[in-house]
Amino acid sequence: MTRDVIIDCDTGLDDAVALLLAIRSPELNVKGITCVNGNVGLDNVVNNTLRVVEHSGMDIPVFAGARTALIPERSSDDASYVHGKDGLGGIPFPAPTLKVQKMHAVDYIIDTILTAEKPIDWITLGPLTNAALAILKEPRITKNVSMLTMMAGGVNAGNVTPAAEFNVYADPEAARVVFESDLAKTMVPLDPLWDGGFLTPENISTIKERDDLPWCSMASRIFERTGSLVKELGRNPVNGAGTVSPPDLLAVAVAIDPSITRNGEFYVNLETQGEFTRGMTVIDRRVYYRIEEKPDIKKVRVALQGIQNKYAGLVLDTWLKQR
Ligand code: BDR
Ligand code: CA
Repeated sequence: MTRDVIIDCDTGLDDAVALLLAIRSPELNVKGITCVNGNVGLDNVVNNTLRVVEHSGMDIPVFAGARTALIPERSSDDASYVHGKDGLGGIPFPAPTLKVQKMHAVDYIIDTILTAEKPIDWITLGPLTNAALAILKEPRITKNVSMLTMMAGGVNAGNVTPAAEFNVYADPEAARVVFESDLAKTMVPLDPLWDGGFLTPENISTIKERDDLPWCSMASRIFERTGSLVKELGRNPVNGAGTVSPPDLLAVAVAIDPSITRNGEFYVNLETQGEFTRGMTVIDRRVYYRIEEKPDIKKVRVALQGIQNKYAGLVLDTWLKQR
């Protein structure tokens, strides 16, 4: 059965392929996409998201949201050193003809969740600013969300700092609001990307062979650019030459089918203060703890390890078998 979903993103190279997976998925009905400041500034994020929707072959409304983190003076830089100045690695995709909606993203999120006939899925692929603002403005929304799946955090390490992953580091106060809410949550951290959560050069060639399909063409150009950016940054792909591990793509795949990763259930706290640990997701992996330490918070499902063939199978089936 198709599940209704809304997606918040900061499009970015990996958000772009993730959106293409969600939109083309026969499992999901993407009702709307909301944009947040993150990898690049909001105007570029909106522009990129519209370009992605145009390549998806579907017509999905796009909404603009927060331009800054909740506390702008404490927020970090963008991630244009990874995604290029425009956020899509400078790949010359044509300017969009679609237009952004007039409604603010936060109001769209609240309205859509509150009026949904049955609980809706929610996916976040960027900093959690829009999500936090929506929860703060209308706390009742948490009751009508079946699952919030977030690309957020790290179990063993971060990426922007040793402790913090970009989406959390960019707005730790917002992440804290979301993690402390009573939403059912799945967190897709960095860890499974280095352990099964990647696509092989063979997977990428199979997608490229179908570049008569606009979403496959966009995805294979992005994978190619991701590979060249990794080289320009002087990095070695952890899973071997020619592989790619876009974090947001894995998050959407987990939202579609949580069995493509091996998962654990943990209490997760958000560090907003630490000199070295601001933006860290503190995963409680203790064997024993006193239950009175955990008064109200729910455990979070955390993706720990990818099952590569299952993950790649889902991506290839979604993009190559047209619906
Ligand atoms: C996350 O941060 C962004 O750079 C990516 O789009 C992804 O959502 C990875 O840390
Ligand atoms: Ca992102």
